[in-house]
Amino acid sequence: MMPKNVLERARKEGLALTFDDVRLRTGYAEFMPDQVNVESKFSRNVGLKIPVVSAAMDTVTEFGLAIELAKLGGMGVIHRSLCVEDQADHVERVKHHLNGLIEKPICVYKDESVPTILAKREEKGYPFHSFPVLSRDGKLVGIVTGNDFEFCGDSQLNVGDIMSTELISAPRDTTIDMAYDLMRSKKKKILPLVTENGEVAGMYVFSDVKRIKTRSAETYNVDNKGQLRVAAAVGTGDEALERVERLSKRADVIVIDTAHGDSKSVIDTLREIKRNYSLDVVVGNVSIGESAKRLVEAGADGIKVGQGPGSICTTRVIAGIGRPQVSAVYDCAKALAEYGVPICADGGLRSSGDIPIAIASGAHSVMMGSMLAGTEEAPGNIVFVDGRQWKSYRGMGSIGAMETSRSSRERYLQQQTGKNQLIPEGVEGLVPYKGKLGDVIFQYVGGLRRGMGYVGASTIEELREKGDFDRITAAGFSESHPHDIKITKDSPNYRGGK
Ligand code: XMP
Repeated sequence: MMPKNVLERARKEGLALTFDDVRLRTGYAEFMPDQVNVESKFSRNVGLKIPVVSAAMDTVTEFGLAIELAKLGGMGVIHRSLCVEDQADHVERVKHHLNGLIEKPICVYKDESVPTILAKREEKGYPFHSFPVLSRDGKLVGIVTGNDFEFCGDSQLNVGDIMSTELISAPRDTTIDMAYDLMRSKKKKILPLVTENGEVAGMYVFSDVKRIKTRSAETYNVDNKGQLRVAAAVGTGDEALERVERLSKRADVIVIDTAHGDSKSVIDTLREIKRNYSLDVVVGNVSIGESAKRLVEAGADGIKVGQGPGSICTTRVIAGIGRPQVSAVYDCAKALAEYGVPICADGGLRSSGDIPIAIASGAHSVMMGSMLAGTEEAPGNIVFVDGRQWKSYRGMGSIGAMETSRSSRERYLQQQTGKNQLIPEGVEGLVPYKGKLGDVIFQYVGGLRRGMGYVGASTIEELREKGDFDRITAAGFSESHPHDIKITKDSPNYRGGK
């Protein structure tokens, strides 16, 4: 990454800057904003189609928001105030939202009668009619589909009498892309995957595969089985390891989510996870380059930067620590320049223009809490106050969150503390209701694209490289916002200066 003069100079003076201290300089562009490529990475091996990740907070990311965000190209981090079982269930719901690879297809036996199968289908409420057919020793011998049931006339027949034996199959590690090509070329609607012993190890259905392939080409952020991507947050120590054991088969990324990432308990947990699982682990939070480096050397596949920038955070006021976010991201990005490990800028973003600023200071993605908490898909109901619609949003270190969840207390190193002795590091409140996530993200990514167009950066990597800043003053800041006007109409992407 090219040195950024403003940030270098500030660094030498021991001065740390944040979003409203800087603006991006414009540069020559040979393309239009809608031609830029906003794909990026959250961790070494897990990509994003848009560089937006949702915060692991109980008022932001549960399965509903995670599904919609992945469909829009980003990724959600399911929070850890849920018990292990519930958190795993939320991850599972995201993964199952699209049936790319059906990992455990319902199979039937060749010698079962057609009425038995139809009754079972009715009883269990299966919405599908296609089943792999097995011999009693568990080997795949055929396929039975809706057509076979419909045209079988004599309903006393066995499955073996109506099944098709002209089937194709493929090895268990077949990706959705390979499945799509194979099914198209062989004109087959069902593709069972089999082990070397001929046992069924999965199944693709062409209608689902086609839907995912054609839509994911546009926006969906999916894994190589065609399922939506999702991350899950854990803490440290034994409880974290128990969560990882439960989540490891389904979550795309594990996020070690703590307020002080540069600590022994985090590094020990990270090492233990990396020793036992082949999973990407994103670790945070930190705000100093040296801390980021220590975590990467201990095995982190991504670093989350942000100590105290969040809209609900009081850490800087209560504990007196933390670093304004643009300088924090820049310092960490510089320290990791040789490692190729992505950085996620977590917290403090207030408008779409903060996304290109975070990326130009060195981030590969941004994590948002307050900018997403007001959407329809975030947990919680709309409330009416002063004639306007709002949704609840609270810090995970707020008194409410810490009182209800041990994980929240652990995030702020107070798991052993009695409930009346908690030291909160966050607040609870309301954010304006913003409507559908899709409309909100459209504006955020639109702002990012426009920023990239103005800078002359056609990719996220180019924005990290080329994006450079001017430092602005209070006068510059007030000039940046609308002035000398009484705004009379809500704008979909602007709600005032503060
Ligand atoms: P935004 O600004 O997007 O910030 O609302 C979301 C991020 O803030 C962090 N977070 C907290 N930090 N006290 C803190 O100091 C808290 O109670 C708290 N809760 C969340 C977290 O990193 C989140 O992604």
